Amino acid sequence: MSVLSIETTPIEGQKPGTSGLRKTTRTFMGKHYLENFVASIFGAIGGAEGKTFVLGGDGRYFNDRAVQVILRMAAAEGAARVIVGQGGILSTPAASNLIRKRGTDGGIILSASHNPGGIDADFGIKFNGPNGGPAPESLTAKMHDLTTRIVGYRIWEGADVDMSSLGETSCGDMTVEVVDPVADYAQLMEGLFDFSALKALFAGGFTMRFDAMHAVTGPYATEILERRLGAPAGTVMNGSPSPDFGGGHPDPNPTWAKELMAVMTGPDAPDFGAASDGDGDRNMIVGRGAYVTPSDSLAVLAANATLAPGYAKGLAGVARSMPTSRAVDRVAEALGIEAYETPTGWKFFGNLLDAGKVTLCGEESAGTGSDHVREKDGLWAVLLWLNILAERKISVAEIMADHWKTYGRNYYSRHDYEAVETGKANALMERLEAKLADLPGTIVQGTTVEAADQFAYDDPVDGSRSEGQGVRVIFEGGARIVFRLSGTGTQGATLRVYLEDRVEGPEGLDRPADEALQTIIAAADEIAQIREMTGRNKPDVTT
Ligand code: G1P
Ligand code: ZN
Repeated sequence: MSVLSIETTPIEGQKPGTSGLRKTTRTFMGKHYLENFVASIFGAIGGAEGKTFVLGGDGRYFNDRAVQVILRMAAAEGAARVIVGQGGILSTPAASNLIRKRGTDGGIILSASHNPGGIDADFGIKFNGPNGGPAPESLTAKMHDLTTRIVGYRIWEGADVDMSSLGETSCGDMTVEVVDPVADYAQLMEGLFDFSALKALFAGGFTMRFDAMHAVTGPYATEILERRLGAPAGTVMNGSPSPDFGGGHPDPNPTWAKELMAVMTGPDAPDFGAASDGDGDRNMIVGRGAYVTPSDSLAVLAANATLAPGYAKGLAGVARSMPTSRAVDRVAEALGIEAYETPTGWKFFGNLLDAGKVTLCGEESAGTGSDHVREKDGLWAVLLWLNILAERKISVAEIMADHWKTYGRNYYSRHDYEAVETGKANALMERLEAKLADLPGTIVQGTTVEAADQFAYDDPVDGSRSEGQGVRVIFEGGARIVFRLSGTGTQGATLRVYLEDRVEGPEGLDRPADEALQTIIAAADEIAQIREMTGRNKPDVTT
């Protein structure tokens, strides 16, 4: 058995997006597809020789095969050790934790996040650096460049590595360490939250349902919520991971987590509901009859974080992606801490977290996290909410009402137009960009436009600039519309329209969001001519 050198040629379109390279599973299963990209990852980081990596994925279809290929390629490149989750499984935050905890040179995570899994669905791969966070744009650009010039890769020729038992084994000269995917993560959570208070909460009859959506968080949630915190069996629903996520769409929002939403609005609704996505980095929070938008959740967590032991010292600052509602900015202002606005994608939080400028950060797309890892973290958000509920001893609905009364409310909704013809979507954005300069001062649906621009970000830590990060239209009085094209879609283009309006209170704080946002929704269509330009009458998904 030996190292094989395989000749290959570039495959078009291997350009990592918002979070790694994400394509259809069949694309990934194509000849040299995975191999070319993995070789380009190793090339971009200056080789694998002598290095230690973490490897794991969310268990979707092809995860097991991809793990074997990557192990053999790492072995051929001279890597010293790969730490891999048992069965090839690691949630994204657990992988981030292991990368950091074990002082490794980075890790490869296999996931297409919340996209469906299966041979006819999606797959993905991304590289996270030694800080545990997604590769910065400079590095993903290097990877892409290498994929366009690749002529060959090396792979160890040998039998599959046994992923089923814990402990050390080998692949060529490389050590493969198979670890329990849950243990280190659960320990990290125990260090951040008051597990005795949480145990007491459940012992006192507090009820919750956690929907793992047949994805990777099943084992994590079962261990932490049911075994360590004593929540009754059955608290975790859909807790057995499957390669196609039970045929579902593992995206924790009211549209896709229908089963949980039905429970939470039903007659026997528990006190608290939560869900996580395919790879465990997203979260949905819902109280009895009270859905909490991710933007509001970030604001509530920021306002109450010091109730959890891990954050008792206070927050250094907070950050949100630009399209995320500005609710958390209000909290930061009240706390006298900095609020950073970054482009969409978790990788932009990395520098701020590393530099100690922010402690909490989040995105409107159900991602919330802190400096404990360098990824968003679904279960972490759930545990922080539980810690807050245990301390405040009021319901989720009461927490929200109190929050809005204190800070005002940012009504918020995101409208997604999926699988739009790429040409049409690009034309819409180009047209919009061309008229940006003329918008300020014009009146749309009765409200004056105050400012309009294309968002660009100057990283305060490394000085890098990211341009073309979405169009913002800001109205007098605080309403805002953001338009951008998704960087994670795998079919055509996805147009995202983010709608926000602000109410100071005390009146008008408890209206349904779609009603409160009616004018803004109409304004978005008037400005971007969505219907005309896309041929769509309404969004495919509203969150
Ligand atoms: C989406 C979300 C973004 C998130 C990313 C990865 O990206 O909008 O907030 O970081 O998924 O989970 P998009 O498809 O909008 O580019
Ligand atoms: Zn995810």
